[in-house]
Amino acid sequence: MPDPSAPILIFDSGVGGLSVYDALRQIMPDAPVIYAADLAGLPYGTKTEPQVAARVAGLLGRMSERFAPRLVCIACNTASTIALGMVREVLEVPIVGTVPAIKPAAALTKTGVIGLVGTGATIRQAYVDELEAEFARGKTLYRIAAPGLVALAEDKLRGCRLDPGAVQEARTGLAAMQRGGQIDTLVLACTHFSLLREELASAFGPDVALVDGADGIARRIAHLLEGQELDALGPARFVVTGPVEAAAGLAPCLEARGFSPAEPF
Ligand code: DGL
Repeated sequence: MPDPSAPILIFDSGVGGLSVYDALRQIMPDAPVIYAADLAGLPYGTKTEPQVAARVAGLLGRMSERFAPRLVCIACNTASTIALGMVREVLEVPIVGTVPAIKPAAALTKTGVIGLVGTGATIRQAYVDELEAEFARGKTLYRIAAPGLVALAEDKLRGCRLDPGAVQEARTGLAAMQRGGQIDTLVLACTHFSLLREELASAFGPDVALVDGADGIARRIAHLLEGQELDALGPARFVVTGPVEAAAGLAPCLEARGFSPAEPF
């Protein structure tokens, strides 16, 4: 059994994983959590596979040594679809990944036409091809990269004025695909995008259901930790790679979520 104060480590390139953190807090309000944002490596979605894999495996190795987590959640589709297998091989703690929610989307669609919006790196992964083949057989899945939405989510949580251009670009890009007009379900295949639900819902309209994996991931974490003693001893921590000043604008949103002030890793 782990030490009662051993944390759940939630990892992302930036603030996207807070969508998973929020879902986890709904069902495990008192669990000890350390959230790690690799702000020095953000964004992952425009990097190559070897760059993402090396960065994620290296950082999670060092973070696991420093924080001795009871479980690691890679709250990032890009990192998970590229490096989940590799990280599982090197770390001895349970690892929960975040992969595009194609399965629930396929169960939900009535038109059989699903959109998937992710980072450039995620949408080209074989992992996504496999999910599509396994769960969306007989359906049409259109993928689109929307790197601008990552920056938009980062800006939103810093309280900046938002330019909705990137949201519209994703909508028109999908609508232009052959049966794009029939999309009734949209997979948010990047944890950052779940933080833009309102913006996406107003661009795509009430007839398109937005689907992500956050609740399912939270339930999976709770299930894996069932029966373990949890004692947070204090507020959740938010650590960042690179200069901590990069998190300065996040202070109100972190405080509202119960985090202590951001710390450098
Ligand atoms: N939040 C990440 C994801 O789920 C990636 C954003 C980025 O760093 O490009 O894919």
